Amino acid sequence: MSRPETHRLTLDLTTDELLSTTRAVRRRLDVTRPVPREVLLDCTRLAQQAPNGRNRQRWDFVFVTDPAQRRALADLWRRGLVDPTAPQHHDGPARHAFTAQSGWQAIADSLNHLFDILDQVPVLMVPCIQVGSRAELDDPATQAGTWGSVLPAVWSFMLAARSRGLGTVWTTPHLNYERQAATLLGLPYETTVQCALIPVAWTIGTQFRPARRVPVTEVVHWDRW
Ligand SMILES: Cc1cc2nc3c(=O)[nH]c(=O)nc-3n(C[C@H](O)[C@H](O)[C@H](O)COP(=O)(O)O)c2cc1C
Repeated sequence: MSRPETHRLTLDLTTDELLSTTRAVRRRLDVTRPVPREVLLDCTRLAQQAPNGRNRQRWDFVFVTDPAQRRALADLWRRGLVDPTAPQHHDGPARHAFTAQSGWQAIADSLNHLFDILDQVPVLMVPCIQVGSRAELDDPATQAGTWGSVLPAVWSFMLAARSRGLGTVWTTPHLNYERQAATLLGLPYETTVQCALIPVAWTIGTQFRPARRVPVTEVVHWDRW
């Protein structure tokens, strides 16, 4: 009996392999192969299984595939990345000593590549969450409930994508021009908060390695800090 198309697209990864090899993919995004809508819908159906506050399901997923829309969104992203007036996120607490030897330089080189190709990536996904008003973003506890009700779904989407041979990378620069992006995408800025911009494409090759991370004993606390 033939298996449905969606199953044939799924890589044969164990759960632990999936969780340890879902990388930020920039250089290995295949900009030449279109991504069928059905695959994106399958990944989104899985994303919708994520936990979310009071099961209100306030998430929305905007898939930008039209070339002109992609170019316009990619331009906002590029402006957001290089804009000298945008808030600068200097690292503050970081554990770079435990990450790859090449550290930030490797990320920067890969990011430069993404900068060059972003408008050619077949799908730019903008996850959103609906709010009563943007004032909800001021209070940390409310914020935790807001982000916590959408970001797990986004990561589920990225895992589901990886399991099907698609690559993704979490990015945020276009949020420096969130209002303009809202206009471009035709979404209501005051009540819909964009969370990220996730490029989605088939990966060039399917092998990815676990990344270096801080030894678990450095980050775990038992009973008290
Ligand atoms: C909140 C957040 C923001 C990020 N912003 C960007 C970004 O703007 N551009 C980018 O190329 N990668 C971005 N990343 C991806 C990280 O650089 C990447 O996850 C990190 O270097 C670790 O690499 P790995 O996910 O392959 O292990 C972001 C990740 C997160 C979680």
